[in-house]
Amino acid sequence: MSRHGANPLLPGSGLIAILGAGSLGRLWAGYLPAGKVAFIPRHNATVDAGVESLSYRLQRFDGSALSVTVPWLDSSATPPSVLLVTTKAGDTLDALQSTLPDLPPAMPVVLFQNGMGSQQAVAERWPHQPILAASTTEGANRPEPGRTVHAGKGETWVGPLTDNATSLLSAVVQALTASGLRVHPETNIQQRLWDKLVINAGINAFTALLNCRNGDILTHPFYLEYIGTLCTEIAAVLAAEGGQPLAPEAIRRRIETVARSTSENTSSMLSDRQQGRTTEIDFINGYVARRGRVHGIDVSVNQMLTQRVHQLLPHS
Ligand code: PAF
Repeated sequence: MSRHGANPLLPGSGLIAILGAGSLGRLWAGYLPAGKVAFIPRHNATVDAGVESLSYRLQRFDGSALSVTVPWLDSSATPPSVLLVTTKAGDTLDALQSTLPDLPPAMPVVLFQNGMGSQQAVAERWPHQPILAASTTEGANRPEPGRTVHAGKGETWVGPLTDNATSLLSAVVQALTASGLRVHPETNIQQRLWDKLVINAGINAFTALLNCRNGDILTHPFYLEYIGTLCTEIAAVLAAEGGQPLAPEAIRRRIETVARSTSENTSSMLSDRQQGRTTEIDFINGYVARRGRVHGIDVSVNQMLTQRVHQLLPHS
């Protein structure tokens, strides 16, 4: 690929590489301009010899459907300018461990994982690579293997996690904006991640344990028994972490507003449970519990939810 059109602030060819060809990875690959995006094969995944691309149908939010073909990256021939990481939180360190050595050291890495903990682990493991995190409300799912649906039109905020990523923020946002999706720079991405974590900590585990849609938790006795204490624990951990302080009642209002506005949705954690996949509980209530223990805060409800979700599936 020629350097024509590449952003001079970014290294490489102008190509955006994506690690993680699940729903979110396929959504971004389908919206970014063809010829400017490639998937990175996972070292433990079998990409059939001779198969040079991944093809699927993308149903866009406006109802139109298109066939998408995304090449697998040959990083020695085309070093990418930006890497988007859309793996599950629990797979991220391993996936990067086997991928980053083949990629340019100055290439910004944008982490799209749910919850918190995995992003911080990556920034600590590779302090010299520019690392950014994204918080997105775009909704995508894969009702069948060859079809990806853009189910919820949202927004994405991107911000630096390492100091060396700060000067690259606007170039990265500009590169992602070529998708036509709404992308904003965010200097305090930790706060954005916390804001989303608070909602997920109050909805996801309950839906997975009760096997119900988001709105149905609100009247369930198990939710009503624990939500007050859960919000008190989250408020105390937030304050100790130095984030924007929020009263337990304000946290509960935020959780319940989202549970009502997404009342018919199957949460990502319930969906993981239904598909027999490992859940992200360790990066949601498990993260709140870990940070709480560091600060000596009683986090018994977060711990209880984490343990119970682990007990749901042999591998969760
Ligand atoms: O994880 C999810 O499913 C979503 O973030 C939320 C907000 C709980 C809606 O389903």
